[in-house]
Amino acid sequence: MDYLEINKEAWNKRTEIHVKSKFYDVDGFLKGKNVLNEIEINELGDVKGKTLLHLQCHFGLDTLSWARLGAKVTGVDLSSTAIETAKKLTLNTGLEADFICSDIYSFGETSTEKYDIVFTSYGAVCWIPDLEKWAETIAKNLKPGGTFYIAEFHPFYDIFSGYPYFYNQQPIIEKEGTYTENDNGEKSEIACWSHPISEVVNSLLKAGIQIILFNEYSYSPYNCFEGMIEREKGKFYLTHKGEDIPLVYTIKGIKN
Ligand SMILES: C[S@@+](CC[C@H](N)C(=O)[O-])C[C@H]1O[C@@H](n2cnc3c(N)ncnc32)[C@H](O)[C@@H]1O
Repeated sequence: MDYLEINKEAWNKRTEIHVKSKFYDVDGFLKGKNVLNEIEINELGDVKGKTLLHLQCHFGLDTLSWARLGAKVTGVDLSSTAIETAKKLTLNTGLEADFICSDIYSFGETSTEKYDIVFTSYGAVCWIPDLEKWAETIAKNLKPGGTFYIAEFHPFYDIFSGYPYFYNQQPIIEKEGTYTENDNGEKSEIACWSHPISEVVNSLLKAGIQIILFNEYSYSPYNCFEGMIEREKGKFYLTHKGEDIPLVYTIKGIKN
């Protein structure tokens, strides 16, 4: 089973749907909206003049939003449709950005550039089979003293949706649609993996990234799971037995 081929095809199809969705609001972005959330903007801090590598950048809205905040950005993604779209958006906005179509392991093996910041977010780690190799890729692409930052969906949600919490080398293979409101009902095969937070933390530590921040949030900035309630603008909650469940975690680290 070639998990990269399966996931590339699924993400190419998803991207075509996502660019037309209200969820991603490309029109709003083209009018100047910064699509990043206060979680990552506040925690990552000032990016002005810094080089920023965005791993699994999808079709580049977050990457280009970091460029709007002054970062010199490079985005990497497996999906050719996503990268072609990101390149068109770069031209349309007049921003400067490099976008590279690659899976992150191959990118890590060939890249020679060292960045001030490596960033990844929301729905990234479940597509990665081996987090030790992922963390090595991150560390290899960071300058000494450079910053790694991830804002990711909390695996607590996966448990309540019937997915395993703990890692298994064998991927979970299933047929899925997508998470935007304009999902057309077509399902594509995907391959993904569960990664407990301890595995994320230990992989980063083993790769020489010293963790300086770890947070958990009781809301998601995205309305992407069934049954979410928007209690405050842009903050979507889910409860179990009347109590909020954690929906997002963030980690910031510095390369030794
Ligand atoms: C949920 S999206 C990332 C979400 C992003 N925060 C956003 O909404 O813009 C996951 C992305 O990971 C990419 N991806 C999946 N497996 C990958 C891999 N092995 N290497 C690089 N990119 C990968 C997909 O193509 C997709 O664009």
